[in-house]
This record gives sequence, C-alpha cells and structure tokens, in this order.
Amino acid sequence: MQKNQFVSLGIESTAHTFGVGIASVATETDNKKAKGKILANVIKQFTTKSGGIIPVQAAEHHVEICDIAIAEALAAAKLKINDVDIISFSQGPGIGHCLRVGAAAARTLSLVHKKPLVGVNHCISHLEIGRLLTDAKDPVLLYVSGANTQVIAFEAGKYRIFGETLDMGVGNMLDQFARQIGIGFPGGPRIMNLAAAGKNYVELPYVVKGMDVSFGGILTNIIRKFESGSYKKEDLCYSLQETVFAMLVEVAERALAHTGKSELLLGGGVACNTRLQEMCRIMCREREAKLFVPERQFLVDNGAQIAWQGVLDYLNGKRTPVEKSAIRPYWRTDEA
Ligand code: ATP
Ligand code: FE2
Repeated sequence: MQKNQFVSLGIESTAHTFGVGIASVATETDNKKAKGKILANVIKQFTTKSGGIIPVQAAEHHVEICDIAIAEALAAAKLKINDVDIISFSQGPGIGHCLRVGAAAARTLSLVHKKPLVGVNHCISHLEIGRLLTDAKDPVLLYVSGANTQVIAFEAGKYRIFGETLDMGVGNMLDQFARQIGIGFPGGPRIMNLAAAGKNYVELPYVVKGMDVSFGGILTNIIRKFESGSYKKEDLCYSLQETVFAMLVEVAERALAHTGKSELLLGGGVACNTRLQEMCRIMCREREAKLFVPERQFLVDNGAQIAWQGVLDYLNGKRTPVEKSAIRPYWRTDEA
C-alpha cells in the first residue's frame, strides 16, 4: 500500500464482543482536512441460547477467536501487519475478564512488531466514530448499550457526562426482563418485536432524577406484573419501551438544551431500536436539532471505533507504554 496513510489497528473487548477494526488517515499536506477511513471492521460476538453473559466464558471465546479476527481484519483491509503504524485497544471501562484478553493481544502485537500502543476510552470512541461516519460535528451522544447508559458531550475542553444511569444500563435491564419472560439473549431486539404487537399501555414507574435515570425499580415492577399473569407479554414489552425510551429522550433533550448544541448522535446496541430512533427523531424535529444514527455495525461495540479513537489520541500525542497498559474496568468518561 502507499505509505502516505497512517494506519491504526484497533481491538475491542469490553464485553461480549471481540472486534478488530482498521482505520487510516491520509498524511499529506492538507492533513487537517483529511477524513479518516475505516478499512475493516470484524465483529465476533459471544452469545448464549439462554442466560446472560458469563464473563469467564466470554473471555474464553475472545481468546479462541482473537488470532482469526486479527487475520480477517488485515485481509479485509488488504494490509500486512507491517503496514500498521499503531496498535489501539479498549483499555476500559468494561468487564475485567474480557478487557484483559484484548489488552494482552494488543500488547503482544505491539511488542512483537515494534508498534506504539494506544489505550483508548471505549465510551468516547462511540462518539468519535459517529463523528467520523456521519455529518455530526459537535453532537450530544446518547450512548445506550448493555452496560452503559450515558449522555456525553464535549464541552470546555473535555468530554463530560450530562446524565447517566444510577444503576444498570438500559440494555442489561431489557436483557434481564427478556430472560424472565423466557425469550433469551440478547433481549432488546426480541422485546422490540413483541412490542410492535402491543396495544395497551400499562402504567410503569418513570424514573428520572435530575439528569440521571434508574431502571432497577422499573424492572422489579414489570417482573411482578408479568408474574401476576394479568398482562400480555406484548403489552408489557410495548409499555417498557415507551417508558424507558421516554426517560432517555427526556434526558437527551435536556442535555441539548443545557449545552446549546443542535445535534444528537446515537451510539450503543440499544440505539439499533427503531422505536427509540423514532422517538429521538420526533424530539429533534421539535427543537430543530439534527439526529444522526450510524450504521448498525458501528452502533454495537466494534473494533473500528477503537482503531479510529487510537488515531485521534495518537495524533494528540498519546502513547500507552506497556507498563502503563493495565486495563481500567471503571474508567470514567470524564477522566479521559
Ligand atoms: P458496552 O460494553 O458498550 O456496554 P455491550 O456489550 O452492551 O457494550 P452493545 O453491542 O453495544 O454491547 O449492546 C448490546 C445491547 O444492545 C444488549 O443489551 C441488547 O439487548 C441491546 N440491543 C440490541 N439490539 C437492540 C434493539 N433492537 N432494541 C433494543 N436493544 C437492543
Ligand atoms: Fe459500547
């Protein structure tokens, strides 16, 4: 390949996905205007037929798959490892067992092939991949995944959390309800399908505290309703979506108002939900803001977002020497 490209290989392993992505940016004179490109995005997901993620099993899956995923990504990008300039990896936040596998793979590539290592913050990379792949310039990110629920924006020189869950992530809550009603994992898409057939709204707690949300009480309440046998699954799924998505939209809208920004970007697996997208679209239209929804492969956890964040961090001078590359399972967005 021509060597006027700066290439980053990125490894994602915060939870049930092991992803390897490759991103590049031109290094010519008009560097500042150069847009990055995604050359590969290989996603390998650990799934279960019933029950949720067991960290040790997900980590074993990642160990088994990591060589293949790296080779597939290089092949898709038509590159050799020697064409790669830096190795980026998700340093946190996430599940320790899973993070450790990606970090070990990244350190090995870095040491064996003598490439600089860059540890990136996973949450922020959802925002930056969205900025790369959509026309969003300075958005508020509604990041809704299994473990995370955060409203993030860049303000006064750093990434800040404007609102977040006080207990579990919205995706984990949906997955737990799905497990209770016996529809398996991942629950989000299956709840979405059932909800489409729901007609009657069942009253559920609506829990917004300031700019934060909480899902634990809603989960307990809806499981009790399900166990009472007096409600249809479809109606419960419909009501659950309407309630928790309204909470998310409310907090996102307030973050837009507070920051004075006029772009909303979606990220995370739950953002694949078409009803959530529709509710966000209506809210944005009403306040003359723009909504940006990246393609599915860039909403769910992926290696491309890590590769691209690595490019941005490296060009900003960041390096992560191996002795400082320990995983950071509780790394806060506002500390990055
Ligand atoms: P993170 O480490 O960022 O927390 P994650 O492991 O939760 O990531 P993602 O791929 O971002 O991974 O999101 C997975 C979640 O998205 C699951 O909880 C799943 O149920 C949910 N999800 C996927 N599709 C939909 C959908 N259509 N509607 C609602 N939820 C969905
Ligand atoms: Fe994520």
